[in-house]
Amino acid sequence: MLLKELIDEIPDIEYQEGADITKMTTFRLESQADLAIVKTTDALSSLIKILKKNKVKYLILGMGANQILPQRIDSLIIHLKFNFNQDLLSEFKDDYVVPASVTLNHLTSAAVRHGLSGWEVFTGIPATLGGAIFMNAGTTLGEIGSLIKEVYLVDQFGESKTHVVTEGSFSYRKNHFVEDGDVIVGAKISHRGKDQQIPDKIKSYLEYRKKTQPLATKNCGCVFKNPSKLYQAGRLIDQLGLKGFRNGGLQVSLKHANFVENQSSSNWDQFRDLTQAIKWQMNMFYGIEFELEVKIPYH
Ligand code: EPU
Repeated sequence: MLLKELIDEIPDIEYQEGADITKMTTFRLESQADLAIVKTTDALSSLIKILKKNKVKYLILGMGANQILPQRIDSLIIHLKFNFNQDLLSEFKDDYVVPASVTLNHLTSAAVRHGLSGWEVFTGIPATLGGAIFMNAGTTLGEIGSLIKEVYLVDQFGESKTHVVTEGSFSYRKNHFVEDGDVIVGAKISHRGKDQQIPDKIKSYLEYRKKTQPLATKNCGCVFKNPSKLYQAGRLIDQLGLKGFRNGGLQVSLKHANFVENQSSSNWDQFRDLTQAIKWQMNMFYGIEFELEVKIPYH
């Protein structure tokens, strides 16, 4: 039986061969791949079992806000689209169990409604909960890992497992428990009590981001990790006069130097060349090895 026929037999999956996935990332680099939109955890388990048996590689794409995808992807792209009952967030609770496909924007609305202290750390990050946990996303206010109690996964054999978060589970922009082939399907997220200042904190933080970041452009968020708290990537790139530096349709943002804007059709190769040129200059002038914050599969 062909892979397509096997996948088509699983309920709650929409499968498309050779799909145009350019619009599935915020950066809009041209890209094509086979795509499975998966609506339940059971469907995901069945899918992974089939993929494992047929030795098909796969990648998870959430909001695609920080993934840099090549023009033709050999792996199957899995996009989770779990049903989400909004009532889950309607009352104040000590913690919430939320599917991985829920966006951080949704959670931020709940934080404003209930004054959930701690949830301001992920304000404005364009990500799904799963993607944010995977890379321990954060802002200058903190990191999401500090709020996560448990992470629910489907492993490379299609079996469900739970990771109970400990002190060693996360570090800067990294998790230390998702193994190759694991998919995050949900999490238990807590907070630090009620704080009436939270709605104002979130509002002023969003205003700060709007003022300092090119939010209306096609971008992939911050491109490089901050080398340290003292040395922020944006400031260092700016100081070398690299705002406006370009390769094809890609340009280092004039508003925030750690952002690259896609101004016309661009691709993975152009992004790689542009970021390698920046890394080289950072190394030459500051002696600092810049590390990408965005994920480049196959790099
Ligand atoms: N700066 C410059 N020039 C620039 C950009 C920044 O001089 O072109 C200076 C700023 O004036 C500021 C300092 O660099 O004094 C830090 O800039 P900013 O406040 O924008 O914060 P950041 O460290 O560059 C981090 C996160 C962002 C997050 C912001 C705000 C990282 C790598 N980046 O940026 O996250 O939105 O704080 O909370 O941790 C992302 O994850 O995609 C992302 C953009």
